[in-house]
Amino acid sequence: MSKDRVIVLTGASGGIGQALAHQFANEGVRFALISRDPDRLKAQATGLESKGSDVEWAAIDVRDRAAVHAYLQDLDSRHPIDLVIANAGVTAGLGPGRSREGDPETDRQIDVNYRGAVHTATAVVDNMRARGRGQIVLVSSLAGMRALPDMPTYSATKAALIAYGHALRGWLKPSGVTVTVLCPGFVTSPMSARHKGAKPFEMSAERAAVLMRRAIDRKAAFYAFPFRLAAGIYLQNLLPAGIADLFMGGFDAEIEPDPRYAEEPRPGSGPEKPRSTDE
Ligand SMILES: NC(=O)c1ccc[n+]([C@@H]2O[C@H](COP(=O)([O-])OP(=O)(O)OC[C@H]3O[C@@H](n4cnc5c(N)ncnc54)[C@H](OP(=O)(O)O)[C@@H]3O)[C@@H](O)[C@H]2O)c1
Repeated sequence: MSKDRVIVLTGASGGIGQALAHQFANEGVRFALISRDPDRLKAQATGLESKGSDVEWAAIDVRDRAAVHAYLQDLDSRHPIDLVIANAGVTAGLGPGRSREGDPETDRQIDVNYRGAVHTATAVVDNMRARGRGQIVLVSSLAGMRALPDMPTYSATKAALIAYGHALRGWLKPSGVTVTVLCPGFVTSPMSARHKGAKPFEMSAERAAVLMRRAIDRKAAFYAFPFRLAAGIYLQNLLPAGIADLFMGGFDAEIEPDPRYAEEPRPGSGPEKPRSTDE
């Protein structure tokens, strides 16, 4: 049976990705799911197939631009993509005793949260533009609207994604391709379980997915939720930065290490062997 709508979702096996996929799942949808762990992707695929969707999945690290581009361009030639949701993300925070963030954690967040989302968008944008239709969704965070002092790189990557999304939307508007930036607050998931600190207005991944789907369906340019937290941030951002900082005290947090990232430091991030010109 041919499917009406082709949806790409990265971070498909995580808390929000899983719930969001189920919001879209029906007999008219073909999914392409991307994240790294094949077992978790297979389980997610089985659940979506039980709702009548066609599902293919690819165990790809979104940091690998060549792999993301090759897979999505091949998919697009077989099944033109209607909607791509760049949702894969990682979090980290300050080190022990509020020491600075580790270099591997800093690099990982920049590479997955920002570069990975850009790789996902750039893989599809030329073909969507040529067809004059399609939707690109970037999953940012309220932390991108008001940075959390204990999560400097996470906040910065999510702010970068907001800026990238606004720029893409302006560029693509004449072509008919739409761009939606989503900024969730605290959502219950494996990611937020490692966030040890206050999580005001935390909501279930299922509830977040309902709100995210509605924003995607109405092709919202930008949607930040839950409303009360987002509204507080809007107001806070009207204040001079030094005064707005006074309201960040309640957001102290420790971020537990991510058990899914027991990885080697990336080349160039370790201590350099001293070199001399005689070598
Ligand atoms: N939970 C919250 O409170 C919250 C709030 C605001 C925004 N967000 C954002 O929402 C998105 C989803 O978060 P979540 O709470 O669902 O997190 P999660 O449960 O930790 O899931 C993260 C997903 O991303 C995938 N992923 C991680 N690194 C990847 C990589 N290098 N390449 C490909 N896939 C990768 C994971 O699968 P593998 O590990 O198998 O690759 C998993 O499917 C993230 O962008 C996050 O920043 C979350």
